[in-house]
Amino acid sequence: MFEQLDAPRQDPILSLTVAFRNDPRPNKIDLGIGVYRNSEGVTPIMAAVRQAQIALAEEQTTKSYVGLAGDEVFNDLITDLVLKGTEARSRTSAVQTPGASGALRMLADLMASAQPDTRVWISNPSYVNHRPVMEAAGLQVEQYPYFDPETKVVDEAAMLAQFEQLGPRDVVLLHGCCHNPTGADLSEAAWQRIAELAVERGFLPFVDIAYQGFGDGLIEDAAGLRLLAETVPEMLIATSCSKNFGLYRERTGAAIVIGKTLEHSQRAKGRILEMARATYTMPPDHGAAIVARILQDETLRNTWQSELVAMNQRINGLRSLLVEQFRIASDSQRFDYFGEHRGMFSVTGLDETQIERLKADHGIYLVGGGRVNVAGMAERDVPIVVDAFLDVGA
Ligand code: LMR
Repeated sequence: MFEQLDAPRQDPILSLTVAFRNDPRPNKIDLGIGVYRNSEGVTPIMAAVRQAQIALAEEQTTKSYVGLAGDEVFNDLITDLVLKGTEARSRTSAVQTPGASGALRMLADLMASAQPDTRVWISNPSYVNHRPVMEAAGLQVEQYPYFDPETKVVDEAAMLAQFEQLGPRDVVLLHGCCHNPTGADLSEAAWQRIAELAVERGFLPFVDIAYQGFGDGLIEDAAGLRLLAETVPEMLIATSCSKNFGLYRERTGAAIVIGKTLEHSQRAKGRILEMARATYTMPPDHGAAIVARILQDETLRNTWQSELVAMNQRINGLRSLLVEQFRIASDSQRFDYFGEHRGMFSVTGLDETQIERLKADHGIYLVGGGRVNVAGMAERDVPIVVDAFLDVGA
């Protein structure tokens, strides 16, 4: 049977992590996969997470099943984190999923089940897993214009012109904040116009918010999403605790559905649960239990929020450092975009030859397409990265 299989496609991010691990050079620098590292190059366990884990280990009395939707307290709290205070919150249902990729897949399956001829529009470029997940659910995937490689900002006019052509068959997949891979986010005016167009043209907005708290702050980063939710009748949200709780390996996320009515979103939730049962039955509990614990306990919540702010400030500090050192080393302002972008990533515009040379000559690993994980750098890496970039002709 298996000899009939084609050779598997390599995932561009995860295969890079393996290549980096296998590189024996001691001074190698991993700017590939989206994980936060501190000044010592370590992805830390947040203090709030550690404390919640200890409390859970002491207090938990059973490892019996939780339920198809996972931890409903978590579902409630995580929905509040993105939607609290909006009218749409009262028409919302949520399901805990294995990471945000699990949420993307469950929501893709939901769309395929509700409207099989759905076309999903993803940004050009987008998170490398968006297309495979949508296509795995049998959905047609199209790209909308997003990033202008010359100016390194969002080409909002071109994007909106595309959205003006869409209709009820279409779903627009947006990044809530900290766009992956470009780091270039939408302006408030663009969110406003997308909301108006979604109502006028009848397309469904689908927001992937995997980096809440890594841009301008926990509340600020969900502002565009909330603006949409206040305007449109229906919406989908995939959210993640990988980055903002540092729970990467615990696979903790949620699929959130806003319906025209609560009954509609509950029906959608029921369908997701049927599909989850036929896929993985129920999500792993540990990460969600930690998050629920943190969000319910005022002290832990405050600790977590200050740690998140500190991570956010450090990333923005690294961005300023890059701008400053690139200005000096290149005697130009052409790298100032590092200071304009938000979140973990920036797209640099390096071509595949330059990316290959960075790896071969300098031991610096970037994802294809030239994405840099700024949050993966230590301060001491900055001058090395700056010199290496200029050496390969950036
Ligand atoms: C990334 O884009 O590097 C992260 O979101 C990791 C992943 O799941 O691909």
